[in-house]
Amino acid sequence: MKYTPQIITADYLYLEGLFVRDWGIVFDTKIIAVKPYDTLIEEYPNAHRIAKIPHSVLYPGLINTHVHLEFSANKTTLRYGSFVPWLDSVIADRNRLTENCTEEMMQEACTQMLQSGITAFGAVSSFGLDLPSCIWTPQRVVFFNELIGSNPVTADQLYGNFLERFEASSLHTQSRVTPAIAIHSPYSVHPSILQKAVALAKAKQCVLSAHFLESQAERAWLEGSDGDLKAFFASAFGQTEALSNIDGFLSHFEEYPTHFIHCIQANDKELHRFSQAGHTVAHCPRSNRLLGCGRLRIEKLKELGIPFAVATDGLSSNYSLNIFDELRAALMMHHELKLHELSLWLLRSVTQDAARILGLNCGRITQGYQADFALVQLPNIPQIEEDIALWTILYTQKVAQLYIEGKQYV
Ligand code: BEZ
Ligand code: FE2
Repeated sequence: MKYTPQIITADYLYLEGLFVRDWGIVFDTKIIAVKPYDTLIEEYPNAHRIAKIPHSVLYPGLINTHVHLEFSANKTTLRYGSFVPWLDSVIADRNRLTENCTEEMMQEACTQMLQSGITAFGAVSSFGLDLPSCIWTPQRVVFFNELIGSNPVTADQLYGNFLERFEASSLHTQSRVTPAIAIHSPYSVHPSILQKAVALAKAKQCVLSAHFLESQAERAWLEGSDGDLKAFFASAFGQTEALSNIDGFLSHFEEYPTHFIHCIQANDKELHRFSQAGHTVAHCPRSNRLLGCGRLRIEKLKELGIPFAVATDGLSSNYSLNIFDELRAALMMHHELKLHELSLWLLRSVTQDAARILGLNCGRITQGYQADFALVQLPNIPQIEEDIALWTILYTQKVAQLYIEGKQYV
């Protein structure tokens, strides 16, 4: 559907990582032109002009590449502080948590993201229970059907179930849902089905993601079938040996750029491999802090040219899905990095880089891109233009307006 062209303006537009004053955008469902506002109103006299709000900064819609909606019922159930006790609590409570997770809770999770400026997100779906809310929500959803299963006896059955969910999620492109594939992790997916899922991703050319080296316990288990996961695998699955090692796991993804989640414990050699293969990283600072996993070296990723996206993870390891809460946490966690530069990195990570990671034609204010916007209102007009990115992150709880494909939703 096409709309009458509209013109939106703000005190500042976030254009290619810079803030430009008094520019505007003419758009229908896509961006038609981006120019100084005075020029635009002359060139498009019949376009509908959206009233400008004071102290405003217009961004492309923000993007959260990694969330688990099916765990939205968790508040005070799962054990935080350390990775393996948390995983123990997930195994013990996951059925109850997903049973208690109502449609309303998942819709509320989407709405919370929407209000914080999120126009697109990557939803990791373990069971397919979140598909209706992803169809319902106006946001673009890259729907990551998750494959899990370390036991070779049940692996084929689990793969069959995964395929059914993948097919079911492929029927909703008109609701802006795009099917994708998530490998749960190197320690939880048997190599035989892992290989099939990667082959499917290649055949369908869909986005692929995997949790990877989130904790020191994961590293110790993959390197020598030892560490804190040893007792977990013995008691939960009667398993004494890791399914694969780190190099073996990564070799599955050599020819297909993949979005790896967390990667805190990845060493320089593994990160070099990432940069060679074109892989990207989801950075979830609050989840990492709450599960005692440490700090991702985003400065190393920058040095190696590995794109990363700040993401919330699910409410199974977080207390909100507000992307600005996450950006503030990132700002505080990376306390040794330069504040202004870091603020710019973080905003880029949830716009342009996140869109490329999810294969979406958005995340930039450029002609031909989707008309997805998040309009932020600062408390006052910025006196120091260099600090607009920082102030946006510090002060924004909810966006003032939000557009997806040219239509206003906030
Ligand atoms: C499994 O389903 O095989 C699995 C789940 C979580 C952690 C490890 C293995
Ligand atoms: Fe996750």
